[in-house]
Amino acid sequence: MQIILKNPLDMHLHLRDKDMLKAVAELSSKSFSAAIIMPNLLPPITTIEDVISYKKRVDEASKNTSFKPLMTLFFKNNYDFEFLKSAKEHIFAIKLYPAGITTNSQDGVNSIDSESLKDTLEAMSELEIPLCVHGESEGFVMDREKEFVPIYENLATNFPKLKIIMEHITTKDSADILDKYPNLYATITLHHLLITLDDVAGGMLKPHLFCKPIAKRYEDREALLNLALNAHPKVMFGSDSAPHPQDAKESCGCAAGVFTAPIALQVLVELFEKHSKLDNLQKFISDNAQKIYNFEPISKSVTLEKKPFIVPDAYGEVIPMYAGEKLKWSISSIS
Ligand code: NCD
Ligand code: ZN
Repeated sequence: MQIILKNPLDMHLHLRDKDMLKAVAELSSKSFSAAIIMPNLLPPITTIEDVISYKKRVDEASKNTSFKPLMTLFFKNNYDFEFLKSAKEHIFAIKLYPAGITTNSQDGVNSIDSESLKDTLEAMSELEIPLCVHGESEGFVMDREKEFVPIYENLATNFPKLKIIMEHITTKDSADILDKYPNLYATITLHHLLITLDDVAGGMLKPHLFCKPIAKRYEDREALLNLALNAHPKVMFGSDSAPHPQDAKESCGCAAGVFTAPIALQVLVELFEKHSKLDNLQKFISDNAQKIYNFEPISKSVTLEKKPFIVPDAYGEVIPMYAGEKLKWSISSIS
């Protein structure tokens, strides 16, 4: 049994820099046509020069594959119209992080309200630059995304022409507001379709499943599955694959991030097959994102076969999700 995925897209990906970039880039660029590359380097990508030089390094690391990195800027509320106008041809979106909420987000925004972000968000609306948002408050960890819902609603209402993408949604609350605002969209990761907090901390602590936002309750996972498996048109795949060295994960003070790049397509096929929804995977993995962002990716065909794939224990110094386990599907060819 085979399935062919056309132009898979990863609409939220961390590729890092230097040796880590070299180690992980191809694990995405081989099987995905394009990916939105997150700007949370240290220091973050905040200038046009940063974007251009980071793109060169990503292109170099993925040069043996046909892949388009879709570059982003790290949101600052001093970006003005002129700056954004010059940046537009180099970027696909801008990513907004609340300050300090996740890995390398110290330089993020301290208060996210439509008044203080007005000039930048109005300029982005006019220039049609989408805004990707890490939507978590500083509250109790299980309530952070829920507490961010009014902020999404406020932004969506005050900037009706701005395309706002709720990144890596993990709760039913986020799923529930999707259809209320025409300019609100969402990405969903692989791991949040699979795990709940029980898998992370219900038994022995699993550092490789620890990420931001943290996996939530069963009813939340159900709501995400409902969106993804039915390929809700405002929802797209964004792996949020976030590699950290093994010693940063297996340490006292575990870095947040799950590394799924090398297993994402295989496991998505298994999941959609299990729920008899394979026919919807093409939309979730590519077609929806093309419509939402209005772009056409490089053509790529990924054929998966129902043949076991044993996940390597490690890729360099990074431990993938399902390390050492047997998956039902493997990638048999890419053209
Ligand atoms: C991401 C990372 O490591 O850069 N970590 C994570 O847990 N998802 C940052 C992010 O997307 O929050
Ligand atoms: Zn991320």
